[in-house]
Amino acid sequence: MITRRGFLRLIGGSFLSAVSLSAYAVGLEPMLLTHVKRYSLTPPNSPAGLRLRVVALADIHACRPWMTPERIRSLAERANTLQPDLIVLLGDYAAGTRLVTDWVGSSEWAPALSGLRAPLGVWSILGNHDWWEDLSAQKAGLGPTVARRALERAGIPVLENDAVRLEKDGHNFWVAGLADQLALRPGKAWGRSGFKGLDDLHGTLASVSDTAPVILLAHEPDIFPKVPSRVSLTLSGHTHGGQVRLFGYSPVVPSRFGNRFAYGHVVEENRNLIVSGGLGFSILPVRFGMRPEILSIELGSA
Ligand SMILES: [Fe+2]
Repeated sequence: MITRRGFLRLIGGSFLSAVSLSAYAVGLEPMLLTHVKRYSLTPPNSPAGLRLRVVALADIHACRPWMTPERIRSLAERANTLQPDLIVLLGDYAAGTRLVTDWVGSSEWAPALSGLRAPLGVWSILGNHDWWEDLSAQKAGLGPTVARRALERAGIPVLENDAVRLEKDGHNFWVAGLADQLALRPGKAWGRSGFKGLDDLHGTLASVSDTAPVILLAHEPDIFPKVPSRVSLTLSGHTHGGQVRLFGYSPVVPSRFGNRFAYGHVVEENRNLIVSGGLGFSILPVRFGMRPEILSIELGSA
């Protein structure tokens, strides 16, 4: 079986032999062709009259030269111009590739996100890379991570197995955030033979104390088969749409479900999931057929 790393290396190697294609896939598409991906839906259990615009940023993966604090600041400004009711950040702020000219730490990327503005607030979750780069948290097996503290200092609350009730035009709804499903890496020094998630779906939904709609933020989409229909909409990132996607197919997806949750709007048994293709990248600075995207989701309008 070809691994994601192996596949991306292969693709990267082939691209390097074709200069124009590589300039596109390594430079133009990942850096300059960021677009706004719009969705319109009325999930089940939505009260009539609740209309909500949610803007989501996923997988920023800050590092130079690909995702500088300046670029993050301009992405935040662009998100604000979409006039969201609320903004959600779906995790993986930390670099995902070693092919960088310099690191961008949380003391740089978090302030770059502090300019995000929405009437119902900016809410965040963490991704696997935010946990993996924090060696103290890996050793301790728990947070708060450096990334969480940096987001909070920037005025952005972090939801880890937590939920918050918000109100728009007299209608309540909940934003729930799941802790990361791959938070703790395996390692002898840490006494772990495999990945350990810190996600607690049951506990997260236990804090939802009424029947108002729930929007669940979960970095990895792999939780989706377990998400009950009580949740109106699940928002995820992590896959980057495979980074390379042709004709609606991603050859390599970091999900045990392969292409099932690789990208876009998935409806299963009347439950809704939207997976963002994200903004940055992992392993190799390559995107092809999967432009960086900001999500703008209209709920209650379709
Ligand atoms: Fe991730």
